[in-house]
Amino acid sequence: MTSPAIIAQNLEKRFGVANVAIIKKISLEIKTGEFVAITGRSGSGKSTLLYLLSGLDDPTSGNVIINGKNLSQLDSQEIHRFRNLEMGFVFQFHYLLPELNSLENVLMPARKLHHELDKREYALELLDRFEVRHCAEKKPSQMSGGEMQRVAIARSMIMQPAFLFADEPTGNLDSVNGETVMSIFEQINREQKTTILMVTHEADYARRASRQIFLTDGKIEHDKSQRHIHRR
Ligand SMILES: Nc1ncnc2c1ncn2[C@@H]1O[C@H](COP(=O)(O)OP(=O)(O)OP(=O)(O)O)[C@@H](O)[C@H]1O
Ligand SMILES: [Mg+2]
Repeated sequence: MTSPAIIAQNLEKRFGVANVAIIKKISLEIKTGEFVAITGRSGSGKSTLLYLLSGLDDPTSGNVIINGKNLSQLDSQEIHRFRNLEMGFVFQFHYLLPELNSLENVLMPARKLHHELDKREYALELLDRFEVRHCAEKKPSQMSGGEMQRVAIARSMIMQPAFLFADEPTGNLDSVNGETVMSIFEQINREQKTTILMVTHEADYARRASRQIFLTDGKIEHDKSQRHIHRR
């Protein structure tokens, strides 16, 4: 049996002077290789939960344990290193660096870890696989939104992370480009066994994940695993 990849215990997040609880004592376990969609209405706490589960933000109380490491027990240097090596991130807006071309953007996480040279071939392979090889020398301002998002996904995968966290990765794309991004996620999950946590408010996309967690007002209202129907 594979042990859970991510364990959240009694996670709570409060914000502001009013100290309002936005995430209310959530406990859950995510297994290696799962493709989890986090859904729910605007303001239900989806992004906040994703940030807590990925260590981008700290809980007010409770624990997040990833691959046996309790994030609250790592110092900031350890957490940075762990994140750079094991986690990829994709957001609604791509956050590519405007002064760098696609290839340089994809290599950025590798550069931070001094692996830029040995990752060059893989970066080109990823650009190829996501059909943006022709954009290798282009800067973000010279590309379409769909192309930028595919480059951002290539960047998130350059270190072959065990986890991919995505916050509304299709939110800023039309349906054709949204579909392409979803197929890429399905491919990454199937072929690299990457554990994926994706926030989306689009029911059709959420249904394609292997598990759907539906949040209402900072709590899990439904959590259902579904048999994964692979579309090719
Ligand atoms: N840094 C913060 N300070 C104060 N309140 C916050 C902060 N971040 C989020 N909130 C509040 O927490 C609630 C949940 O926010 P969150 O961004 O997690 O929602 P969401 O489900 O991702 O919504 P959306 O679908 O609109 O992106 C909201 O009411 C928001 O205003
Ligand atoms: Mg959000």
